[in-house]
Amino acid sequence: MEGQVNAWDSVSPEELLQGGDVTEGVVRSGDTVRRPHSASSERVRSLLIHLERVGFAGAPRYLGVDDRGRDVLTFVDGEVARRPAPEWVASDDRAASVASLLRAYHDAVGSFGMPEVFDDASPIRPEGSPEPFPVPNELIGHRDVTLENVVFRDGIASALIDFDLARPSSRIDDVCNLLQWWAPWQPVEDRPEALADADACARAAMLVDAYDLDAASRSMLVPLARNTAERTWYSMRLRAERDGGGWRRMWDAGVGDAIRRRQEWLRKNQEALTKAVM
Ligand SMILES: Nc1ncnc2c1ncn2[C@@H]1O[C@H](COP(=O)(O)OP(=O)(O)O)[C@@H](O)[C@H]1O
Ligand SMILES: [Mg+2]
Repeated sequence: MEGQVNAWDSVSPEELLQGGDVTEGVVRSGDTVRRPHSASSERVRSLLIHLERVGFAGAPRYLGVDDRGRDVLTFVDGEVARRPAPEWVASDDRAASVASLLRAYHDAVGSFGMPEVFDDASPIRPEGSPEPFPVPNELIGHRDVTLENVVFRDGIASALIDFDLARPSSRIDDVCNLLQWWAPWQPVEDRPEALADADACARAAMLVDAYDLDAASRSMLVPLARNTAERTWYSMRLRAERDGGGWRRMWDAGVGDAIRRRQEWLRKNQEALTKAVM
């Protein structure tokens, strides 16, 4: 980290950025974003530097560390969904552009390989959690393509933000994550109002086409989504107990029950969903 400390001063005023669940104290300061130092700081730093090096424009740039030890990134200008989600998240064109952006991210991150700094980012395996669906890790996935983690410009997804959960993963894992939020593969009662009427089958078909997902991967999406939901229930419970903070708040707000409802929804709709994405 030599040469980076104190590279950036804190400049008032700072605007608190909201939208996420977990990170407290993300602020905008001028053209920059300041994020508190965290366990993922080093990983995100190396990832963003790689993306810049290969000329991928769809992510913030890493700028350094400020005088308070916070990571400094570029503020990406544009529209980002806040909660409650705006009507525009239901736009098919917008959703398709998120899938294309995810594809471009995967194509850009491939040459990053699996750097050692990601060794400690392996998934947690709490007791009782099922074996992961057998998909080999092939790249550093984003793993959190929520409605709030995409910046739009002129109605098109222009950047992914919030790489805190990035870790060794696969294309199909990220596509599953994309479907969860943007199709959305969730029961109506747990969706944001703006997506209550979305046709999860039709949207999923459109998203995998926009991503240009291969046929073999398509056939794995539903079983993978089910397995991931099951494992997420265990890992979120453990994080709530172990890490507290935003994880605890999400758990106390009922995220565990929502995951259970999602599992049931996936089970009930598995045939239709499988047909739709093939
Ligand atoms: N580099 C950035 N450019 C533009 N907006 C950002 C940037 N980083 C964060 N934001 C805004 O701040 C919100 C929260 O930041 P995020 O990094 O997603 O933290 P969290 O871990 O809490 O989700 C985002 O949803 C977005 O609205
Ligand atoms: Mg976020």
